[in-house]
Amino acid sequence: MKIVEFTKDKLEEYTNLINQSRADWPQYRRFTAEQVESMYLSNRTYNQKRHLLAYLEEVLVGEAIALVDSSNQDNSTHGILYCSVLPEYRNSGVGQQLVESIKKRLKQNDVKSLETYVPHDCEVSKKFYDKLEFTETEREIQLRFYLDKEALEVKKPAGIQIRQAVFPEDKKDFLNLWNTSYSSVDSVFSKMTSESFDEFINFPGVESCCFLATKEDSGKVVGIISNYFDPVYNKEKGVLEATIEMIAVEETYLRKGIGSGLTVKSLTWMQSHGIRVAQARVFSSKLNSIEFFKRNGFSVEKNIIVYKINLSN
Ligand SMILES: CC(C)(COP(=O)(O)OP(=O)(O)OC[C@H]1O[C@@H](n2cnc3c(N)ncnc32)[C@H](O)[C@@H]1OP(=O)(O)O)[C@@H](O)C(=O)NCCC(=O)NCCS
Repeated sequence: MKIVEFTKDKLEEYTNLINQSRADWPQYRRFTAEQVESMYLSNRTYNQKRHLLAYLEEVLVGEAIALVDSSNQDNSTHGILYCSVLPEYRNSGVGQQLVESIKKRLKQNDVKSLETYVPHDCEVSKKFYDKLEFTETEREIQLRFYLDKEALEVKKPAGIQIRQAVFPEDKKDFLNLWNTSYSSVDSVFSKMTSESFDEFINFPGVESCCFLATKEDSGKVVGIISNYFDPVYNKEKGVLEATIEMIAVEETYLRKGIGSGLTVKSLTWMQSHGIRVAQARVFSSKLNSIEFFKRNGFSVEKNIIVYKINLSN
């Protein structure tokens, strides 16, 4: 087997590979080359990327990618890992060699840890990462809201206006609130820069919409939410799904119905686009956020295990 570094001329070949090798991942969405480029190659949130391809007799059979954000708050460096192998080449050591090669390269660059996400019912992946000595650290809960369930009622907290965000005008406020509300979260997700926000908001091929909650008297932004759906993916999978990507309310304005107001506004936007199911993902340790979504009619559907490995010893 030959393991080589990814180069941009292999983008089409690579996109075809991941669309085949990840097709059986639960919730896998097919990506275009343009989306792959935006997620993995140009993505500025992660200033270090390691990207390896495995060839067997000139056939591309597997890949592993590590995205590393070296600007993380605690000054240590963490990476996110994705690895996939074509079904017919699995269970023959390809994935293991790819992950070991990625680990070696990351260690040389002083990356301290690596994490990956596995659906709790995906036994093959769990076994794979167990064997590679990753350990389960946390779970992510996926919640869903079925839009045909009940008529939505728009709640409006007193003194608060909810309106659609307009970019770039609202970018600074949106980013500020997001970064302050997330600064306490211990994970690979770090502060979003202006450039990474631009990439996030202009992700190719998706319909997105952000709303803001502002104070009626001063216009101060006290809550944000962002939503998107991928019409091509929906069509291909025969589903009508959209995702609440991020939601945050400023600390001093919590428990006043602002988060609910933003959620209802987003669900209404989704309904107007024919969406049937809204989903959100929250770390299992964030009990308040889970409670919040349940209170707003979401139900817990799936959980995803976060597996981690320490590279510093
Ligand atoms: C999740 C979040 C957006 C909720 O915003 P909010 O404006 O405080 O929520 P609401 O006032 O609309 O809450 C509605 C209901 O949700 C539940 N809820 C909200 N916050 C809760 C908390 N801290 N503890 C327990 N239940 C809570 C309650 O049932 C609440 O109704 P009640 O106040 O009448 O009891 C906010 O806590 C937040 O910004 N968290 C940090 C960011 C985050 O975790 N985002 C989610 C992942 S993307």
